[in-house]
Amino acid sequence: MNIPLVELHCHIEGAATPAFIRACARRNKVTLPDDIFTPDGAYACDDFLHFLSVYVTACRAICTQEDYAELVYGYFINAAKKGLIYGEMFISADHPADVGLSYSDFLDAIAQGYAKAHEETGVEARFILTCIRNLGAEAAQKTAQLAHDFAHPLVTGFGMAGDENYGHPADFIRAFECARDAGLNLTVHAGEVCGPHSVRDCLNVLKPARIGHGVRAIDDPALVQRLADEGIVLEVCPGSNIALGVYDTYAQSPFMALRDAGVRVALGSDDPPYFHTDIANEYACVQQAFLLSDADMRAISRTGLEAAFCDEGTKAKLLSHFTQ
Ligand code: ADE
Ligand code: ZN
Repeated sequence: MNIPLVELHCHIEGAATPAFIRACARRNKVTLPDDIFTPDGAYACDDFLHFLSVYVTACRAICTQEDYAELVYGYFINAAKKGLIYGEMFISADHPADVGLSYSDFLDAIAQGYAKAHEETGVEARFILTCIRNLGAEAAQKTAQLAHDFAHPLVTGFGMAGDENYGHPADFIRAFECARDAGLNLTVHAGEVCGPHSVRDCLNVLKPARIGHGVRAIDDPALVQRLADEGIVLEVCPGSNIALGVYDTYAQSPFMALRDAGVRVALGSDDPPYFHTDIANEYACVQQAFLLSDADMRAISRTGLEAAFCDEGTKAKLLSHFTQ
């Protein structure tokens, strides 16, 4: 496959391999419980809530600016080798704060890691500051305030991840208004494990341009029509959905059904080592499952670029990959 890959949904700490987490734990003298790994060294990951808990525990090993710079550099170097031309990464202010890293030091580290990967490969990236729903509205507001106070050219979006079952989107209106005021583009995780109501409530009250996952919208034809009519982009991560038991196979993902219904769908790998995938594998598995042509895959990649949270100049430059 010779497709220029675009990825709209990947979490920074979710990009850390078990080997990287073990190395960080060793050098930072952090003791991790053995049960976050399986006997063969992969992340233990039974279901959505177990995944979130293993993820938060593994994050405790990532402590320093060097760790974050290495993580970002490693992710983008490897992805670029596999064809990534543009990637967006969710960053959390809460995990660095938990290990005593200031937000500005954290930003410097990820910018440094990305700059090195960009210099070596030309890959472009932007970052989406993300609050964590299950930490509550006040923590979300603090995160949004950081976006206000520490504007950074690489941080172009604000999002919400975490446990979709927690609270109601209305609890987070102030955080999202603050982020919107700061000029950030908005995306919310919804319809990953919860049904169409979760997506609908987010659209109604938080008014994001994109939805993280959103696949469960398929259970409500009126909502699917609304997504298509309003041009809302879904950041679909089929490998993640399979690993977390939402669907059994790529062919069962509603990715194609949503696309056929006129919804703008893009691809992401979410937390690739947790879900035994990467962005190139997501494109390849979708192509294989739905018998898509290279032209179809290029169109999917292009949808991602059109929905990217970056400036028009960068988009125009990257669009040239699709006209060569
Ligand atoms: N944080 C990291 N990965 C996530 C996911 N798939 N859903 C919700 N929160 C997350
Ligand atoms: Zn996600």
